[in-house]
Amino acid sequence: MAKGNGAAMAAAAVLALAALLCSPAAGELARLEHTAKNGGSLSLLVVGDWGRKGTYNQSRVAEQMGKVGEQLDIDFVISTGDNFYENGLTGTDDQAFEQSFTDIYTAKSLQKPWYLVLGNHDYRGDVLAQLSPVLQKIDSRFICMRSFIVNAEIVDFFFVDTTPFQLKYWTHPKDDHYDWREVAPREKYLANLLKDLDEAMKKSTATWKIAVGHHTMRSVSDHGDTKELLQLLLPVLQANGVDFYINGHDHCLEHISSRDSPIQYFTSGGGSKAWRGVFQPNEDNLEFFYDGQGFMSLQLDQNQAEFTFYDVDGNELYQYTRSSPMETSHLRPSGYATEE
Ligand SMILES: *[C@@H]1O[C@H](CO)[C@@H](O)[C@H](O)[C@H]1NC(C)=O
Repeated sequence: MAKGNGAAMAAAAVLALAALLCSPAAGELARLEHTAKNGGSLSLLVVGDWGRKGTYNQSRVAEQMGKVGEQLDIDFVISTGDNFYENGLTGTDDQAFEQSFTDIYTAKSLQKPWYLVLGNHDYRGDVLAQLSPVLQKIDSRFICMRSFIVNAEIVDFFFVDTTPFQLKYWTHPKDDHYDWREVAPREKYLANLLKDLDEAMKKSTATWKIAVGHHTMRSVSDHGDTKELLQLLLPVLQANGVDFYINGHDHCLEHISSRDSPIQYFTSGGGSKAWRGVFQPNEDNLEFFYDGQGFMSLQLDQNQAEFTFYDVDGNELYQYTRSSPMETSHLRPSGYATEE
């Protein structure tokens, strides 16, 4: 049964349903609205790579998410994908849905909408089942789509379906089967998606623009960078002034800043199995890396964005604050004036 079925959640679920029914194959991305709190502030948690029926410390991470979620009075949760291991869901009646989601994230503070993208492991199951609105009848929090937008007044979140980008899943699937129904052929899908994202980002008037995907753009852990995203998706994010890219895929917590643009990369993929023991630097700037389990919070208002990483015991590991472009341009004139 769905827990904490508040009016806001029900509204979000209805919106999600409406969006699913109306959104055409190509054209506009589904768009959900989420109201910011009184003064225009927002707090949320980000977790990725988690669905293991509580094992590998998934339950411990969930418990700490509940506590931090309570402290921050969160508005919603973002999942960066790999929602169900090893091979997604087998159907809408797969018990893993309850065992890995509903029965794990039980804290009161987590009874909010969850906006989820799909990971590569989700693509190894019945993708249409994981996208099905039927799941919202079991647990109304679960709002999973391929690519969509959540507008929360001060911020636009652009959720991007990154699995089809990675060429090796198509050409070298090894023993894995990927469910490309409604996706293949790859080139057409990606071209449409990039065009839709570009158009939506150009129209965005929010203070903050944040992209969310499963795969890494930059990472120092096991999977490393995702070449296809750097080549195809990053230019779209840069051209449209996207502030942050948030992902999972590598089972760790990391912050990397870009050498050639203001964009910041955050990996929150520590939802369950972690401790890979791999470290491979890339040419961008590594700001923070933690190889173990945990999650991230994000607190936003017009003026600043604050990211915090937490470990399996709820300890704060790292914090990063960025002033908004509006705030920065507001401060700039006096600085220039003194230079004249
Ligand atoms: C779970 O977390 C505890 C505490 O940090 C740690 O000792 C243990 O190794 C972790 N278990 C796994 C499977 O990662």
